[in-house]
Amino acid sequence: MPTKIAFIGFGGVGQTLAELLSKQREDLSEKYGLNYEVVAVSDVMKGAVYQPKGLNINRLLETVKETGNVEKYPDEEGLIKGWDSFDTINKSNANVIVEVTFTDVKTGQPAIDHCRAAFERGKSVITTNKGPVALAYRELAQLAEEKGAFWGFEGTVMSGTPALRMPITTLIGNNIYEIKGILNGTTNYILTEMEKGKSYEKALKKAQELGYAEADPTSDVEGYDARYKAAILSNYIMEAPLAAEDIPCEGISSMTEEQVQEALKNKKKWRLIARVKKDGKEVTASVKPELLDADDPLAGVTGATNAILYECDLAGPIMLTGAGAGLVETGYSLLIDLIHFGKGGQ
Ligand code: HSE
Repeated sequence: MPTKIAFIGFGGVGQTLAELLSKQREDLSEKYGLNYEVVAVSDVMKGAVYQPKGLNINRLLETVKETGNVEKYPDEEGLIKGWDSFDTINKSNANVIVEVTFTDVKTGQPAIDHCRAAFERGKSVITTNKGPVALAYRELAQLAEEKGAFWGFEGTVMSGTPALRMPITTLIGNNIYEIKGILNGTTNYILTEMEKGKSYEKALKKAQELGYAEADPTSDVEGYDARYKAAILSNYIMEAPLAAEDIPCEGISSMTEEQVQEALKNKKKWRLIARVKKDGKEVTASVKPELLDADDPLAGVTGATNAILYECDLAGPIMLTGAGAGLVETGYSLLIDLIHFGKGGQ
């Protein structure tokens, strides 16, 4: 039986996954036994189509490209248009919901309600939305488990760089007692541009032009984006139910060019560090600018690149560095989740 996929939200990330699925159809089937149909798309701006037998992905993507929405997808027998997200989750024959809606990370909505609705029906979810994992991990993970559903959220921390699955699967058997990382590309870009002499304002503007920053860059520069990611790491990797708002957080908005230059003179570098630490059973976390020695591996991470270092009792420090955002990278993170779903794994 092919996996039946419904996209809830169909912006850049969702469309990128759809493109990857279409391009890799044969490979996915041959290498991983993943056979699928995309049966539905429901997007508040772009409209909705549902075809229980499967939509033609290329036609779907062309329709969006040409008309800006899915409403003009050609009518055919069995096609239903206009279902909202909950109709699509509840009434379609999809067994995997790709939840990529535009979600308010402060409330986690509508993504949290979408995940809950899917799990209640035993349907699996893959998502890149941070809100459900940062704000409702315990409840949703428990519900998914009770209902035998899979929940993939690899892309919520460092997009397609496997910051979540790698420590759980590959570093299995270690006690990971500390995680520290550069988890926000915008602020790292700003800090490294300031090291080159650019002003804070100019560097932020450029980060926005390059598409690194969130729609409201407050979330980046005040450290909130990194704090959500620290909450995800605490909940998922350290198994400690830390709430995002309980993690002390300081951003980089009050940092001056003088501070950055002064650090360089002293062979140091400022980096916005998210830290999660386990001490016995107690887990604490923080997000704040830290002054690192210039030869610290995290100080060497420049531009919008992200990095994460896991302190392991057996393997020692393991560092992973890579993209933290980007359409292809984030679309790919969903593909990782989908392949793991297909293999019945973690
Ligand atoms: N605005 C985020 C960043 C994007 O700059 O890293 C990924 O969450």
